[in-house]
Amino acid sequence: MNPRKPHVDWDSLFGDDYDYFDLPDLTPELSGIEASSMVELGGFQPGSRLLDAPCGHGRHANVLASRGYRVVGIDRDERFLEMARDESEKMGVEVDYRHVDLREMSFEEEFDAAVSWYSSFGYFDDETDRDILRRYRRALRPGGRFLLDMHSPYRHIPSVLANHDMHVDVLRRGQDLAVDIQELDAEASRYYAEKITIRDGKVERARYSVRMFTAPEILEWFRTAGFSHARVMNETGGPFTVSSRRLVVLGTA
Ligand SMILES: C[S@@+](CC[C@H](N)C(=O)[O-])C[C@H]1O[C@@H](n2cnc3c(N)ncnc32)[C@H](O)[C@@H]1O
Repeated sequence: MNPRKPHVDWDSLFGDDYDYFDLPDLTPELSGIEASSMVELGGFQPGSRLLDAPCGHGRHANVLASRGYRVVGIDRDERFLEMARDESEKMGVEVDYRHVDLREMSFEEEFDAAVSWYSSFGYFDDETDRDILRRYRRALRPGGRFLLDMHSPYRHIPSVLANHDMHVDVLRRGQDLAVDIQELDAEASRYYAEKITIRDGKVERARYSVRMFTAPEILEWFRTAGFSHARVMNETGGPFTVSSRRLVVLGTA
């Protein structure tokens, strides 16, 4: 039995260390490519109404709006929403950004499609995450689609075997380091992580935990949440295998 409970230090995880270490890699080019993948993998129809949840700093929502989609973006982080609004102004596009917690989404059959991109699902306990999935389902009109992009659970295994039962990610920016240490709880199929940043010699720590799903398990969650159909694929829409970088799920309401 493991006494640990899911917990996330959101503000530390997505504070200015995120801007410093992570944002430079999330280039406009990458976001544009990912937005194209969403459209292709989700089969989003031109001009349709999309929910980007959570939208972060709007890197996909603004691009999708520039391509003619009608987009609502929600996030818990006001700072990210401000960045998203500033960028939408610069780009001359319109996105409806709202400060909404995923656990309180209450849209009813309003969207043709919804997307959760970049490992943004599975941070809460299972009951809460199942409830969030039901909320995505309720946000969709009948036949609407939900595209969920997550880490593959198998991605971590070689590193875990090599690192005393832990998965370790190291990101270096000059002399500064962001070290993400993830301890796997196999019984809960969840990793408990600590992100340690060392910047100008100053050390910051943020804890979080993320659920990892096998394909049959997440498909069962989709069915239980009321989706009439769901299937898994890899990041390019091909078959999901142990070598896939991402586990992508497409559910139909
Ligand atoms: C990994 S980022 C991904 C954001 C965006 N999809 C992207 O690709 O850049 C996860 C996001 O989830 C947001 N978030 C975390 N918990 C949330 C909650 N309970 N409700 C709404 N947003 C939340 C964070 O503020 C952050 O912007």
